[in-house]
Amino acid sequence: MAPKILLAYGTMAGSTAEVAQAIAEELTQLGAQVDVAPVESINDLAGYNAVVLGSAVRMFHLLGKTRRFLRKHRKALQAVPVAYFLICLTMSEEKPETIEKATRFAKPMLNTQTPVSLGLFGGCINHEKLTDMFGKPLRFLPEQDHRDWDKIRAWAGEIYPLLLNA
Ligand SMILES: Cc1cc2nc3c(=O)[nH]c(=O)nc-3n(C[C@H](O)[C@H](O)[C@H](O)COP(=O)(O)O)c2cc1C
Repeated sequence: MAPKILLAYGTMAGSTAEVAQAIAEELTQLGAQVDVAPVESINDLAGYNAVVLGSAVRMFHLLGKTRRFLRKHRKALQAVPVAYFLICLTMSEEKPETIEKATRFAKPMLNTQTPVSLGLFGGCINHEKLTDMFGKPLRFLPEQDHRDWDKIRAWAGEIYPLLLNA
Protein backbone atom coordinates (compact mmCIF):
# COMPACT_ATOMS: atom_id res chain seq x y z
CA MET A 1 0.00 0.00 0.00
CA ALA A 2 1.25 3.51 -0.79
CA PRO A 3 2.54 5.39 2.27
CA LYS A 4 0.17 8.17 3.33
CA ILE A 5 1.81 11.56 3.84
CA LEU A 6 0.16 14.70 5.15
CA LEU A 7 1.56 17.89 3.66
CA ALA A 8 0.42 20.70 5.97
CA TYR A 9 1.28 24.31 5.21
CA GLY A 10 0.86 27.73 6.80
CA THR A 11 0.54 30.60 4.36
CA MET A 12 -0.71 34.19 4.28
CA ALA A 13 -0.12 35.23 0.67
CA GLY A 14 -0.04 31.84 -1.04
CA SER A 15 3.62 31.29 -1.89
CA THR A 16 4.06 28.57 0.74
CA ALA A 17 0.96 26.81 -0.60
CA GLU A 18 2.54 26.69 -4.07
CA VAL A 19 5.74 25.24 -2.63
CA ALA A 20 3.69 22.65 -0.70
CA GLN A 21 1.96 21.69 -3.95
CA ALA A 22 5.29 21.20 -5.75
CA ILE A 23 6.62 19.02 -2.92
CA ALA A 24 3.39 17.01 -2.90
CA GLU A 25 3.62 16.43 -6.67
CA GLU A 26 7.16 15.14 -6.28
CA LEU A 27 6.24 12.82 -3.37
CA THR A 28 3.25 11.54 -5.34
CA GLN A 29 5.47 10.74 -8.32
CA LEU A 30 7.71 8.78 -5.98
CA GLY A 31 4.77 6.63 -4.92
CA ALA A 32 3.20 8.30 -1.87
CA GLN A 33 -0.44 9.13 -1.35
CA VAL A 34 -0.30 12.79 -0.32
CA ASP A 35 -2.96 15.01 1.23
CA VAL A 36 -2.13 18.72 0.98
CA ALA A 37 -3.97 21.03 3.38
CA PRO A 38 -3.64 24.40 5.15
CA VAL A 39 -2.72 24.00 8.82
CA GLU A 40 -5.89 25.68 10.04
CA SER A 41 -8.07 23.06 8.31
CA ILE A 42 -6.45 20.00 9.87
CA ASN A 43 -8.11 18.36 12.86
CA ASP A 44 -6.52 14.95 12.99
CA LEU A 45 -3.23 13.35 11.96
CA ALA A 46 -4.50 9.80 12.40
CA GLY A 47 -3.76 7.41 9.54
CA TYR A 48 -0.67 9.21 8.20
CA ASN A 49 2.69 7.45 8.00
CA ALA A 50 4.55 10.77 7.92
CA VAL A 51 3.96 14.53 8.03
CA VAL A 52 5.63 17.33 6.08
CA LEU A 53 4.95 20.74 7.62
CA GLY A 54 5.84 24.00 5.89
CA SER A 55 5.35 27.61 6.92
CA ALA A 56 5.90 31.15 5.87
CA VAL A 57 7.79 33.46 8.22
CA ARG A 58 6.48 36.88 9.21
CA MET A 59 7.99 39.35 11.65
CA PHE A 60 10.84 36.95 12.54
CA HIS A 61 8.43 34.17 13.55
CA LEU A 62 6.60 31.23 12.06
CA LEU A 63 3.01 32.22 11.32
CA GLY A 64 0.74 32.10 14.39
CA LYS A 65 -1.44 29.47 12.74
CA THR A 66 1.59 27.23 12.21
CA ARG A 67 2.53 27.60 15.88
CA ARG A 68 -1.06 26.75 16.85
CA PHE A 69 -0.87 23.64 14.64
CA LEU A 70 2.33 22.59 16.40
CA ARG A 71 0.73 23.02 19.83
CA LYS A 72 -2.51 21.30 18.88
CA HIS A 73 -0.84 18.26 17.27
CA ARG A 74 2.32 18.06 19.40
CA LYS A 75 1.74 14.47 20.57
CA ALA A 76 0.71 13.21 17.13
CA LEU A 77 3.73 14.88 15.50
CA GLN A 78 6.01 13.16 17.98
CA ALA A 79 4.62 9.78 16.93
CA VAL A 80 5.47 9.95 13.19
CA PRO A 81 8.50 10.92 11.10
CA VAL A 82 8.32 14.60 10.14
CA ALA A 83 10.09 16.95 7.73
CA TYR A 84 9.80 20.73 7.98
CA PHE A 85 10.32 23.56 5.55
CA LEU A 86 10.33 27.34 5.81
CA ILE A 87 9.70 30.04 3.23
CA CYS A 88 11.19 33.44 4.00
CA LEU A 89 13.02 36.37 2.45
CA THR A 90 16.01 35.74 4.72
CA MET A 91 16.73 32.69 2.54
CA SER A 92 16.76 34.74 -0.66
CA GLU A 93 20.51 34.28 -0.24
CA GLU A 94 21.96 31.04 1.02
CA LYS A 95 24.89 31.83 3.33
CA PRO A 96 25.93 30.49 6.75
CA GLU A 97 24.40 33.54 8.50
CA THR A 98 21.04 33.33 6.66
CA ILE A 99 20.86 29.58 7.30
CA GLU A 100 21.54 30.21 10.99
CA LYS A 101 18.90 32.95 11.17
CA ALA A 102 16.26 30.91 9.33
CA THR A 103 16.98 27.87 11.49
CA ARG A 104 16.17 30.05 14.51
CA PHE A 105 12.76 30.85 12.97
CA ALA A 106 12.13 27.09 12.91
CA LYS A 107 12.65 26.67 16.66
CA PRO A 108 8.99 25.95 17.55
CA MET A 109 9.09 23.19 14.92
CA LEU A 110 12.41 21.78 16.08
CA ASN A 111 11.27 21.86 19.72
CA THR A 112 8.23 19.75 18.85
CA GLN A 113 9.96 16.90 17.06
CA THR A 114 13.38 16.36 15.47
CA PRO A 115 12.75 16.30 11.71
CA VAL A 116 14.41 14.05 9.15
CA SER A 117 15.23 17.31 7.38
CA LEU A 118 14.66 21.07 7.58
CA GLY A 119 14.27 22.71 4.16
CA LEU A 120 15.02 26.45 4.05
CA PHE A 121 13.77 28.21 0.92
CA GLY A 122 13.59 31.75 -0.38
CA GLY A 123 10.19 33.42 -0.39
CA CYS A 124 8.53 36.06 -2.51
CA ILE A 125 6.79 39.41 -2.51
CA ASN A 126 3.83 39.68 -4.84
CA HIS A 127 1.99 42.99 -4.34
CA GLU A 128 -1.30 41.66 -5.66
CA LYS A 129 -1.38 38.95 -3.00
CA LEU A 130 -0.39 41.15 -0.07
CA THR A 131 -3.94 42.07 0.78
CA ASP A 132 -4.07 41.61 4.57
CA MET A 133 -3.48 44.54 6.94
CA PHE A 134 0.03 43.41 7.95
CA GLY A 135 1.04 42.38 4.43
CA LYS A 136 -0.04 45.57 2.64
CA PRO A 137 2.65 47.78 4.23
CA LEU A 138 5.32 45.48 2.75
CA ARG A 139 4.29 46.60 -0.73
CA PHE A 140 7.09 49.16 -0.38
CA LEU A 141 9.45 46.24 -1.16
CA PRO A 142 10.04 45.49 -4.85
CA GLU A 143 8.28 42.44 -6.21
CA GLN A 144 10.56 39.43 -6.07
CA ASP A 145 10.47 35.63 -6.12
CA HIS A 146 13.37 33.63 -4.70
CA ARG A 147 11.74 30.22 -4.77
CA ASP A 148 14.19 27.81 -6.41
CA TRP A 149 11.89 25.11 -7.80
CA ASP A 150 14.74 22.73 -8.65
CA LYS A 151 16.03 22.96 -5.09
CA ILE A 152 12.51 22.52 -3.68
CA ARG A 153 11.79 19.46 -5.83
CA ALA A 154 15.21 17.97 -5.08
CA TRP A 155 14.50 18.39 -1.36
CA ALA A 156 11.23 16.47 -1.76
CA GLY A 157 13.18 13.64 -3.39
CA GLU A 158 15.66 13.64 -0.50
CA ILE A 159 13.09 13.51 2.29
CA TYR A 160 10.98 10.72 0.79
CA PRO A 161 13.28 7.79 1.69
CA LEU A 162 14.17 9.45 5.01
CA LEU A 163 10.49 9.70 5.99
CA LEU A 164 9.86 6.07 5.05
CA ASN A 165 12.89 4.69 6.84
CA ALA A 166 12.80 6.83 9.98
C1 LIG B 1 4.26 41.29 6.73
C2 LIG B 1 5.41 40.42 6.32
C3 LIG B 1 6.43 40.16 7.22
C4 LIG B 1 7.52 39.36 6.84
N1 LIG B 1 8.50 39.13 7.76
C5 LIG B 1 9.58 38.37 7.39
C6 LIG B 1 10.64 38.14 8.32
O1 LIG B 1 10.61 38.56 9.48
N2 LIG B 1 11.71 37.42 7.89
C7 LIG B 1 11.79 36.93 6.61
O2 LIG B 1 12.80 36.31 6.29
N3 LIG B 1 10.80 37.10 5.72
C8 LIG B 1 9.70 37.82 6.08
N4 LIG B 1 8.68 38.04 5.18
C9 LIG B 1 8.74 37.42 3.85
C10 LIG B 1 7.82 36.20 3.73
O3 LIG B 1 8.32 35.12 4.47
C11 LIG B 1 7.68 35.83 2.26
O4 LIG B 1 6.99 36.88 1.62
C12 LIG B 1 6.96 34.52 2.03
O5 LIG B 1 7.05 34.17 0.65
C13 LIG B 1 5.51 34.62 2.48
O6 LIG B 1 4.87 33.38 2.33
P1 LIG B 1 3.31 33.28 1.99
O7 LIG B 1 3.13 33.86 0.60
O8 LIG B 1 3.05 31.80 2.01
O9 LIG B 1 2.56 34.01 3.03
C14 LIG B 1 7.59 38.83 5.53
C15 LIG B 1 6.55 39.09 4.63
C16 LIG B 1 5.48 39.88 5.00
C17 LIG B 1 4.39 40.14 4.01
